[in-house]
Amino acid sequence: MRKQIAAANWKMNKTLQEGQSLLNDILSADLSVGENQEVLFAVPFPYLIEANNIVSNRKNIFVTAQNCHHKTSGAYTGEVSVGMLTSIGIQYCLVGHSERREYFAESNQMLAEKVDLCLASSITPVFCCGEPLSIRDADTQNQFVEEQLKESLFHLDAAAIQKVVIAYEPIWAIGTGRTASAEQAQEMHAHIRLSLTNQYGEAIAQEISILYGGSVKGSNASELFSMKDVDGGLVGGASLIASEFVQIINALK
Ligand code: PGA
Repeated sequence: MRKQIAAANWKMNKTLQEGQSLLNDILSADLSVGENQEVLFAVPFPYLIEANNIVSNRKNIFVTAQNCHHKTSGAYTGEVSVGMLTSIGIQYCLVGHSERREYFAESNQMLAEKVDLCLASSITPVFCCGEPLSIRDADTQNQFVEEQLKESLFHLDAAAIQKVVIAYEPIWAIGTGRTASAEQAQEMHAHIRLSLTNQYGEAIAQEISILYGGSVKGSNASELFSMKDVDGGLVGGASLIASEFVQIINALK
């Protein structure tokens, strides 16, 4: 049975002290994290070790990197490798967030390399996909997202693809307060699952968690998560407020 996941993406926010308080506030709240549910905290690189210590004795709660480099090691000043992440006990990494694609020119091909490196090191990639507004306006979002999946994921074999988490994040809904409607999210998630079915078969497609991201809040999480193919959320802004993120975690189905 596929997992239901609430993932926080802090992006480039919070000092260490602010991050520690946020994490402690969330963990000390009345959280219901079931057997089949997981909570992820994608924190900035300098906080990974400390955040991992804070969540270490909590079941189904994991610290996540926001990015990794697409080469194993070498002369890449300022970059962080997958091997470094594994060496500090990190088990998840966001791959291909739209901000990385846009501001750091990450291509589908480069993201395929990142996905491969993560899987080779037993790190679960949370692979982000999603269309810009111009594509949504032209009503070609299905083809656009399918292309992203094909170029970055569909070289994987059946065993490997089941270790990937997919996050659908329409760019026009990120940080804009303009959430996709639950129906729009479901429509795309169903399309992603259909693409997975066509490539890997129904049984495997049903095992893969597909998260929705883009202005998820405490007030809309339940409706979004109630959709058949929405298996949780990747949350930016609202994950920086303890009470909001607690509400989102508790909205998982
Ligand atoms: P948002 O960001 O929740 O602030 O829209 C989501 C994301 O970028 O992952």
